[in-house]
Amino acid sequence: MTEAHAYAQTLGEEQSIWFKISPFLTAENPMEILMRMSEKRGGCFPVKLKSEKMYFLTDIEHIRHVLVDNVDNYNKYFEGLKPIFGKAMITIDGSLWQKIRKPQQPFFHPSVYEEYFPHLMTAVKSTIEDWSDLAVRGCEVEILEQTWGLAADMACRALFNREMPFNPQVVFGAVKAYTDVANHKAIRAKKMSGAVSEVSDDEDAAQAIAAWLSLPDAVIGAAPLGDREKTLLKMLELAEADPAVPEFDHQQVLDEIKQYLWAGTETTALTLGWIFYLLSLHPEIAEKIRSEGEEVYGDREPSWEDIQKLTYTRAVMLETLRLYPPAWALMRAAAEEDEIGGYKIEPGDKIVLSPYMVHHNPKYWDDPEKFDPTRFLPGCIKKRVKYSYLPFGAGKRFCLGGQLSQLETVLALTMLLRRFRLEYAGDGPVKFGASVMLTPKGGLPFKLHARS
Ligand code: HEM
Repeated sequence: MTEAHAYAQTLGEEQSIWFKISPFLTAENPMEILMRMSEKRGGCFPVKLKSEKMYFLTDIEHIRHVLVDNVDNYNKYFEGLKPIFGKAMITIDGSLWQKIRKPQQPFFHPSVYEEYFPHLMTAVKSTIEDWSDLAVRGCEVEILEQTWGLAADMACRALFNREMPFNPQVVFGAVKAYTDVANHKAIRAKKMSGAVSEVSDDEDAAQAIAAWLSLPDAVIGAAPLGDREKTLLKMLELAEADPAVPEFDHQQVLDEIKQYLWAGTETTALTLGWIFYLLSLHPEIAEKIRSEGEEVYGDREPSWEDIQKLTYTRAVMLETLRLYPPAWALMRAAAEEDEIGGYKIEPGDKIVLSPYMVHHNPKYWDDPEKFDPTRFLPGCIKKRVKYSYLPFGAGKRFCLGGQLSQLETVLALTMLLRRFRLEYAGDGPVKFGASVMLTPKGGLPFKLHARS
């Protein structure tokens, strides 16, 4: 059996938490259900799932306990998502995690972002060209497919010094085969009932996984774009060659690349997608983003310095991440006994920390359902309760690429809105499809119109 087939067999495994909670994930409005449960049952509530317990944490004191104060007792939980990440940094714990993360950190220090800037710009300009064609054709596009391609191109250029060496639409489809964890149940149900040939199901999933597993080699094998002295890809290759870090083997390099091609793309793609959706409901806010761009950089291309001045555009992004945090839930598994909110936590218990529920809690945010970017304008920011804003997590496992993604998003947003008007083409308000990420059920169809 190939590696891809072996992975495909595990989709929808009964022991996976994702499988167990899929009835909830596929409900009409999973976030509303969770909010109601939290209101009724408090900031830490258990949910019994057959043989194991899962605790939902929605109160920031408990979240701080798990992410900061007692962080070493809570391991990352990535069961069911192995094909995406393998043993990449985001999935591992303890001293091994430190060894793998440390050498990569300098590539996410704000001081290197100015060097990445022209590469991000090239990716945005290439999207502008594609969108100009799509606007002329007048067809409907799935905006997440578009923003995913853009985010992947930005990551490949800035971090790996490569042009994106794959077709983003094919890969986007492949990734969905197993990040839409709610589908795992359907795959399993079909297998169990024998209603559909098991082989063809496995083959579909195996093909998707094979497409995904081929990406790191495609990145490594692609021609470098120029002679950049230091890139994350070079660093990964040097680490593999360094006998002082035997843990950093070839598989680790492949897995780190896969991690960036997912954690660094679907999140940014969703952020842009959700922003475009919110702007379709609030065209006056889209207009303010445009006029801010006009004031700051006029008709020329924005420079690195200009981007730092786009405070309103940035506030729109931050407010969108509050309302629709792509990582709506962070998963952990308890290593040792503990106590949270009066409940005894047993080793192995699963913990779900929900940035979504914190961001929508009136205890921490005035009028939390209102889309109000001014909350994030410099000078308007009220003193915020610590840990009440968690789109990038908190504590030592805080998102490594959070600042990079903010730069990518602001740059893309200002440039794309100057050239295009985006018309939401879906039927009615978007519903949530909670999966590993907070996704719009059925996608986000848009029509693109070039602005004269
Ligand atoms: C809007 C965009 C993004 C969001 C909302 C986001 C969110 C997050 C969150 C919540 C975590 C912590 C997960 C946990 O504690 O379980 C995380 C971790 C991580 N993110 Fe991001 N992320 C974004 C963009 C990026 C980008 C652009 C990159 C890199 C190119 C990236 C790389 C990582 C890595 C490597 C980790 C693991 C860090 C560790 O475990 O030490 N992320 N991200």
